[in-house]
Amino acid sequence: MKLAILISGRGSNMDSILAAVKRGQLPLAQPVLVLSNVPDALGLTIAREKFSMHTEVLDKNELKGWEYDKNLMTVLRKYEICPTNSLVCLAGFMRLLSPQFVHIFKNRILNIHPSLLPSFPGLHAQRQAVEYGVKISGCTVHFVEEGLDTGPIIIQKSTPVFSYDTEETLSNRILQDEHLIYPEAVKMVTEDRVKISGRTVQISY
Ligand code: GRF
Repeated sequence: MKLAILISGRGSNMDSILAAVKRGQLPLAQPVLVLSNVPDALGLTIAREKFSMHTEVLDKNELKGWEYDKNLMTVLRKYEICPTNSLVCLAGFMRLLSPQFVHIFKNRILNIHPSLLPSFPGLHAQRQAVEYGVKISGCTVHFVEEGLDTGPIIIQKSTPVFSYDTEETLSNRILQDEHLIYPEAVKMVTEDRVKISGRTVQISY
């Protein structure tokens, strides 16, 4: 199964997926493209220099919703990435995909979020967790639906929150776990071990 990884920044989750592929841990995943909506995203350099990946920039950020996503579809098509043969992995991609795009790639888009959803969706999830005073937070890999950070959950991993934690210290601790569960989720989906039934995801081992 082909992988397109969409990023906007440093790309550490992208790195974790590409490194797992390189180690031979995701034998059915074939990464073909890293795309960013930010031209100078650090992840683009990592993708090219460390993993020899094709990269593309689509920085028409003034375009809203489907107007942007139509261009995205054109780029994906260039790499023969389509819903029947591919997975789109959002890895810190700071744009909300349009309902049209989500519909076309139904159950083919994954996202990682730095909280135990449905707690703390949206921006600054780790700051929200610290400010709320929860004792446990974590990260979630889920399928993407129209809503923000909704969509059936594939894997979650919990992380303790300590009284001395700041947004930064908690983010760093959660990120270590993100790098474990995202490749694992990609592995499960590419190996066709994931069945979605309503909101529930069943995994066969
Ligand atoms: C991660 O915390 C991820 O959970 C969130 O955005 C951040 C991206 O970080 N969606 P990176 O670019 O993968 O390092």
